[in-house]
Amino acid sequence: MVQRPKNEAELQEREAIGVIRASRFIRRYAKAHTKISMGTVCRIHREIFSFAWSDIAGTYRGENLEITDSHHHPPHYTEVPGLMENADEELAEKLEAVHMAEGTIRDEVIDEESAVGAIDHVIKTAAWLHHVITYIHPFRDGNGRTARLAANLILERFGLVGISIKVEQQNKNRYRKALAQIDDHGDYEPLVEMMYEGLIERYEGVPMKFYPAKK
Ligand SMILES: Nc1ncnc2c1ncn2[C@@H]1O[C@H](COP(=O)(O)OP(=O)(O)OP(=O)(O)O)[C@@H](O)[C@H]1O
Ligand SMILES: [Mg+2]
Repeated sequence: MVQRPKNEAELQEREAIGVIRASRFIRRYAKAHTKISMGTVCRIHREIFSFAWSDIAGTYRGENLEITDSHHHPPHYTEVPGLMENADEELAEKLEAVHMAEGTIRDEVIDEESAVGAIDHVIKTAAWLHHVITYIHPFRDGNGRTARLAANLILERFGLVGISIKVEQQNKNRYRKALAQIDDHGDYEPLVEMMYEGLIERYEGVPMKFYPAKK
């Protein structure tokens, strides 16, 4: 078992390496066409933390915690396995539906309307997975990173590219508010909008017409 480094700098270094590992894992997994489940989400978490903090890597938390600067109280730790199981079933249903969209994007004689709908469906499924992970907060730490990587796995599996959601200092509030908007009102729009922005960046501004209309 790898001990958690005592020194903050070393811990950060190891976590950074873990994120690189996890990104490599999702890229490979996206191509492999093996089932995506909450087990895969645990695997992403394990990739991030096995070197930095192996005690928590890929395992559900055994304690209650609060999220800094958020009014969402993650569920009691005893509820985590059950909630993850339910989410796993919901994920399987959602992915079943996205499979049908996949062919539309790949179709050579592309029907614009269904391609736009298919892309939107993939993005919304990724947004759902991102939020459900942060909402349940199944892990002791690294829930945000795991959620963002898991969302990228969905994007990449269904023919898009992984994105980088802006979570650094000046965008932190917007990101937190977008998640809170789902917690409080079931409104995915702000998070979906951030994901579209990430995609626009990756596609050099090309898919502007997919961008949801601003209210
Ligand atoms: N209101 C909220 N509802 C649900 N999730 C939230 C809310 N506010 C923040 N979060 C999520 O909680 C994450 C922080 O939890 P945690 O410390 O476990 O993740 P992390 O990966 O270590 O953090 P970071 O994302 O800062 O790298 C945020 O990144 C965000 O994804
Ligand atoms: Mg953290």
